[in-house]
Amino acid sequence: MVVSMYIVEGGRTLRGEVRVQGSKNSTLPILAASLLCRGESVLFNCPRLSDVEASLTILRYIGCKAHREGDVVIVDTGSVTRNEIPSALMHKMRSSIIFLGAMIARFDRVRMSFPGGCELGPRPIDLHLSALREMGVMICEEHGELDCRVDDGLHGANIALTIPSVGATENIMIAAATAEGTTIISNAAREPEITDLADYLIACGAKISGAGESTVIIDGVKELHPASHAIIPDRIVAATLMSAAAVTGSDIRFKSVIPSHLGSITPVFRECGCEIEYTGDGVIFRSPYRLKSPKLIRTMPYPGFPTDAQAPLMSVACVADGLTVFVENMFESRYSHVSELCRLGANIRIEGRVAVVDGVRRLLSAHVHARDLRGAAALVVATLCARGKSEVEGIEYLERGYEDFELVLSSLGADIKKI
Ligand code: UD1
Repeated sequence: MVVSMYIVEGGRTLRGEVRVQGSKNSTLPILAASLLCRGESVLFNCPRLSDVEASLTILRYIGCKAHREGDVVIVDTGSVTRNEIPSALMHKMRSSIIFLGAMIARFDRVRMSFPGGCELGPRPIDLHLSALREMGVMICEEHGELDCRVDDGLHGANIALTIPSVGATENIMIAAATAEGTTIISNAAREPEITDLADYLIACGAKISGAGESTVIIDGVKELHPASHAIIPDRIVAATLMSAAAVTGSDIRFKSVIPSHLGSITPVFRECGCEIEYTGDGVIFRSPYRLKSPKLIRTMPYPGFPTDAQAPLMSVACVADGLTVFVENMFESRYSHVSELCRLGANIRIEGRVAVVDGVRRLLSAHVHARDLRGAAALVVATLCARGKSEVEGIEYLERGYEDFELVLSSLGADIKKI
């Protein structure tokens, strides 16, 4: 892993137009699903991120061909040579478990290591495993390894998720696409990335209805064929850039966002006093001279407020007038950015899953360390408005989800460089 740092001179106003990159959380399951579509799939708007590169490395290890031409990724899954993923590759990317459904649909036997915990606390995969067991997979969990076997092919099942897990919903959809019979997922995750995965699978010949709703029905087909697909814009990157505009008192124009995907995010910015205007082909975002506190942010499964936008919005709350209460309902330890925001002069207290932010007029520069992807984004947002020169370490986390972020921000007028 290459360790890098940003140097940010805070206080610049941003202006101009920005095109939002493709969604990381759509790209990863779609790359995994491409394993089922024997042949060459072409994915447009595929962001250049370390997590995406980790997925491509896994596909190549399995024997597929994959290459990139700009933001287009071409994956040829026609021939595969290996039915296992070694732990070094599984640990490169926390969401590598998304390959399990696709692998077991392609091979009768699959070996991979547990993806392990992550910066956000323990990351259980019990829902993924119990669903695949219901579909006929025998799974042996020993020595940190998953040894999976399916003797008579995968079959459909009625699967009721106890939590609307995004990854589990995706794994089941992928595995069910070519399973014998019908699979019904109730309490399915409803994120736009689920719908994007379904759209890709449908383009490949899958029969899926209800994606984006709580009940998803998949009628297994004999086989899938490859297809072209354009990845949706990344709603979390859009929220991060809006946060950057908000804290710097800037007006910027967004191209290629899907307004309905920001349904729980834009009201929060409006509460802060920002104006958001939808035009035919984008969004104009204007921030006020002084932000007001958004008062209460509770992270929830979609269509609720996304946990991934909690950290960047906390940087907004840090410089907004008044108190904001954050309640993190999705992950156990998702406040690693708080101590670093406090180094920049923020006033934040944490009590379990609750963080209370008392907005200050201005932040001051400091040397801060990112410890996870969205926490890194929050620190970059905060340093953009902190007076003086800040250093943000741990940019390798940011690069898991933000493509050329320093270049995007400097094209808007920020003083930021990577060393
Ligand atoms: C996905 C996103 C991540 C986002 C998260 C929640 C990708 C690649 N990542 O992660 O950016 O923060 O959704 O919106 O799309 N859980 C279990 N058992 C399981 C699976 C999940 O208890 O088997 C719990 C998790 O610990 C968590 C909650 O369910 O508390 C939601 O997790 P999940 O929706 O599965 O998140 P991911 O798919 O890992």
